[in-house]
Amino acid sequence: MMKKMEYSPAGFSILLLLLSTCFLLLNVGAATNYSSPCSSDFPLDDHPHLHRRNKRSGGFVLTLNHAHGPCSPINVTSSGATILLHDVNRVDHLTSRLTSSDSRTHLHHHRLDVSSNGVQVPLKSGASLGVGNYVTQIGLGTPTKDYTMVVDTGSSLTWLQCKPCTVSCYEQIGEVFDPKGSATYKSTKCSEPECTNLQKATLNPSACSKLNNCIYEASYGDSSFSVGYLGKDTLSIQKKTVMSEFVYGCGQDNEGLFGKSAGLIGLAKNKLSMLGQISKTYGESFSYCLPTKSSSGYLSLGDSSTSSSKYTYTPMITDSQDDSLYFVKLVGITVARKSVSITASSYSSASTIIDSGTVITRLPSVIFSALNDSVVASLSKYPRAPAYSILETCFKGSYKSLPVPPVSLIFDGKAEMKLSPQNVFYDLTSKSITCLAFAKSASVGIIGNQQQQTFSVAYDVGRSRIGFAAGGCS
Ligand SMILES: *[C@@H]1O[C@H](CO)[C@@H](O)[C@H](O)[C@H]1NC(C)=O
Ligand SMILES: *[C@@H]1O[C@H](CO)[C@@H](O)[C@H](O)[C@H]1NC(C)=O
Ligand SMILES: *[C@@H]1O[C@H](CO)[C@@H](O)[C@H](O)[C@H]1NC(C)=O
Repeated sequence: MMKKMEYSPAGFSILLLLLSTCFLLLNVGAATNYSSPCSSDFPLDDHPHLHRRNKRSGGFVLTLNHAHGPCSPINVTSSGATILLHDVNRVDHLTSRLTSSDSRTHLHHHRLDVSSNGVQVPLKSGASLGVGNYVTQIGLGTPTKDYTMVVDTGSSLTWLQCKPCTVSCYEQIGEVFDPKGSATYKSTKCSEPECTNLQKATLNPSACSKLNNCIYEASYGDSSFSVGYLGKDTLSIQKKTVMSEFVYGCGQDNEGLFGKSAGLIGLAKNKLSMLGQISKTYGESFSYCLPTKSSSGYLSLGDSSTSSSKYTYTPMITDSQDDSLYFVKLVGITVARKSVSITASSYSSASTIIDSGTVITRLPSVIFSALNDSVVASLSKYPRAPAYSILETCFKGSYKSLPVPPVSLIFDGKAEMKLSPQNVFYDLTSKSITCLAFAKSASVGIIGNQQQQTFSVAYDVGRSRIGFAAGGCS
């Protein structure tokens, strides 16, 4: 039944080996164009702490771009309404993972059987992006080639579309990865521990092909998914080898909202995530700065990526419902330096996730209402616009035309995110309105990427803490 998915192991070639040696000798990230906001290399010289550690400890730094902006290598153009709709799906998915009445119906393994009839209708085109908004490039294989990947702290398994795309590959920018073209690609057998670990990493059971190759299924709650073989190959960043047997999914059936990316990098707290796999060599930490649409940020992996003294830290909380997600404890919100009027105990009732892929921050209703009231009161003189999608409080124009009051999110341990106007309001330029970029949630709170933009956020998993520092991308 799964015959069509089998292919022979990649052939070795002396020529490829020689070529790859040449590639590895190439210099890493030498020239940087400071004047271009979309430079392909993040300006390390502007960030001495990243630069030093990159050289000394062998940690590594990737450039991050907003998928919907002019710097995006994958050219996604989604309307505000579509982005907000995807955001609702993502929040539903994250929330469902935290409720015990688990009604997830993800099993797509049957699709592999369907493929043998040659009947296949893609669910959706790859033109839209539902699982995250930030992309970066990694190298895979020997010789190494670069692939543009969505970065996601809410999932664990890294995968990319893989030839021969037995069932389905959506349209992507750049070449689809071909395991036969890599001298170092290996398939993972069903008996290997990585195959057993898939259940925890993907929340779906693994399967086994007739040739005893491990089959994964990664699903994302908005009917997006990738199914294929679990493989291993050399992971490189800017042509420099980071890890020789990096485990990832070689996707044979890929459908849904991944933009025109090649696949996805999972950074959740799990053995199989990129974080889990690099932690033995580089330490269990990463940090990032999520850029605005028209600039570049970074993703830095390795222990010293979180060692800067610029961070104020809050303890990382583990939630037994899903220990792969990153939880923090929100203890206060101020608007114009005054605490919003709710009791301190209102904060303790809900858990709060920090997530790279959710756009709009969600707050339990009581907290949201208090924040909403304070912001509305401080802008009472300005012309309002009707609510838009999940955004209840909108004004005419752009946030730039409003005296947006300073808003701070305060976390346990006095860590604070002092939000700037662009973190507090979300411009819907096509409608000429701007809306408070917070929404209410039924239960869990989620710190979204609109609020995190331009902050450095440190995920120091080894020491169970999350840090914030303003001005991370510039
Ligand atoms: C840097 O990029 C800008 C804008 O793309 C370009 O005009 C300029 O010539 C570049 N400078 C260098 C030194 O490459
Ligand atoms: C980006 O997408 C737009 C609209 O789909 C298209 O016109 C344009 O040619 C694309 N650009 C690239 C570089 O693919
Ligand atoms: C938020 O404020 C807007 C504008 O005053 C109001 O229409 C909406 O009901 C408020 N939402 C909540 C949950 O308080």
